[in-house]
Amino acid sequence: MKVVITGGTGFLGQRLARALLERGTLTGASGAQEAIKRLVLFDSAVPERPPEGLDDERVSLVAGDVADGATVRGLIAGESLSVFHLASVVSAGAEQDFDLALSVNLTGGLNVLEACRAAPGQPRLVFTSSIAVYGGSALPETIDDATKITPQGTYGVTKVMNEHLVADYTRKGWLDGRGGRPPTVIVRPGKPNKAASGFASGLFREPLAGIDHELPVSRETRIVLGGYRTIVESLVALHEVPGAALGDDRTVNLPSFSATAGEMVAALERVGAGRKLGAVIDAPDPAIQRIVGSWPGYARAERAAALGLPENPPLDEVVRQYIEDYVEG
Ligand SMILES: NC(=O)c1ccc[n+]([C@@H]2O[C@H](COP(=O)([O-])OP(=O)(O)OC[C@H]3O[C@@H](n4cnc5c(N)ncnc54)[C@H](O)[C@@H]3O)[C@@H](O)[C@H]2O)c1
Repeated sequence: MKVVITGGTGFLGQRLARALLERGTLTGASGAQEAIKRLVLFDSAVPERPPEGLDDERVSLVAGDVADGATVRGLIAGESLSVFHLASVVSAGAEQDFDLALSVNLTGGLNVLEACRAAPGQPRLVFTSSIAVYGGSALPETIDDATKITPQGTYGVTKVMNEHLVADYTRKGWLDGRGGRPPTVIVRPGKPNKAASGFASGLFREPLAGIDHELPVSRETRIVLGGYRTIVESLVALHEVPGAALGDDRTVNLPSFSATAGEMVAALERVGAGRKLGAVIDAPDPAIQRIVGSWPGYARAERAAALGLPENPPLDEVVRQYIEDYVEG
């Protein structure tokens, strides 16, 4: 079978690609496990050489814009096909550029759906939504799959619109769609970004690289997190779930856990003991504090658990995984 990952050279896209190569098979159109013969990583930003771990004869890197319908139709075509749709303008970017967010997240999402519709059979499609679909002053402290969806940002709005379209294309019998809402995924490698959630990775990543990190929120600030290994395993597991088990509500909250910034710093100090850690310096930023403070502190993912998606390990283990994969790896 052929598997396409849009956003395939991003953070989660690369990790998902590695997980799929290791696994080697997915449920195909026949309902049986089929070998992944081609893994296409489609992205607007494609490196010249395959990223580490992805130099494999099954992998091809394809550069292009998901908002370009002809490109997407050419890419998502043929028999025995599965698609993981990850390409997205992410939170801060969507807020800064409304038109780009609509183009990439909405037109891009429609292009992916239409290409799946035109392909033979009912390709499985896994869409990465976000818990940013939840928001607003009436939000409870703990969200769950039944919490009313009232996004307070363009990013969340485009995500929930895709969720509904995935459900409707599935109801029409044009594809077999499923969506997962990741929490803030840690520990994101690479350079710091401007996302309001950036501190949740930065407070581990920078000190572990010996660099000081300025913490923009109070240590009491509580957010909902997921470790990248678990989130990637969840996306694969979501692909494997029989459509009937999802029923007509095609999107689920992905497994998460809750921690305060102070608990995260404590985990860093425990797991990083013996290393030369950079310092975590309190540097409150009222704008970031306000945004993060509007997010839920706890999330339940009962549907994910019932569907057999994996649970996150304890926070210390999530930090250890990052050290193994990116600091020592
Ligand atoms: N990482 C998180 O904390 C998190 C949380 C919730 C949801 N998500 C969702 O998971 C998915 C993957 O997230 P990530 O952390 O890997 O993000 P990322 O930014 O690392 O990856 C997204 C990829 O999409 C690509 N892309 C952007 N515009 C494109 C376009 N027009 N055409 C083709 N490709 C384009 C980017 O180049 C990038 O490689 C996204 O849909 C994101 O919204 C992520």
